[in-house]
Amino acid sequence: MKLVAFCLFAVFCCSLALPTLKPRYINKLKETLDELRRFKTNLTNTEKMEKRVNMPPKDIQDCGCLSALKCFEEGVSTFNSTPYQIKLFRSLRNPTTAGALQFCAKDSTPSCSECKAHPTESVDRFLSDLESLIQMGITKLKMG
Ligand SMILES: *[C@@H]1O[C@H](CO)[C@@H](O)[C@H](O)[C@H]1NC(C)=O
Repeated sequence: MKLVAFCLFAVFCCSLALPTLKPRYINKLKETLDELRRFKTNLTNTEKMEKRVNMPPKDIQDCGCLSALKCFEEGVSTFNSTPYQIKLFRSLRNPTTAGALQFCAKDSTPSCSECKAHPTESVDRFLSDLESLIQMGITKLKMG
């Protein structure tokens, strides 16, 4: 009897929590996208032209979005500290951002989280891949 009551309660909570969390998730991802764009325009020429950044695991399918997010976070932390860099870094680390990308989380192998072991790419490529990941999250949340 108690178990049944608990299950009913859980179903009730989930059906309540999902619709209320969704707009929050979408807003957080949109905010992160804005911060990413501001961060990009504020980069120094040296950073834009010469810097290389470790990429997240190539196969998001195998490693999942949250491993990718972690590596993007780690990558962003290697840039010069500016107000825009700090904002973007904090947003990537925010639990709401991880929550918004939870739908494509995977139990990942240890190699997924060793960001430094992955090849480096240009800043352009790094930032456009990060942008794609966030866009994918927004699209998915709006659809589902
Ligand atoms: C980046 O932003 C800071 C603070 O607003 C500003 O002082 C700096 O000139 C900007 N740098 C570039 C390259 O836009």
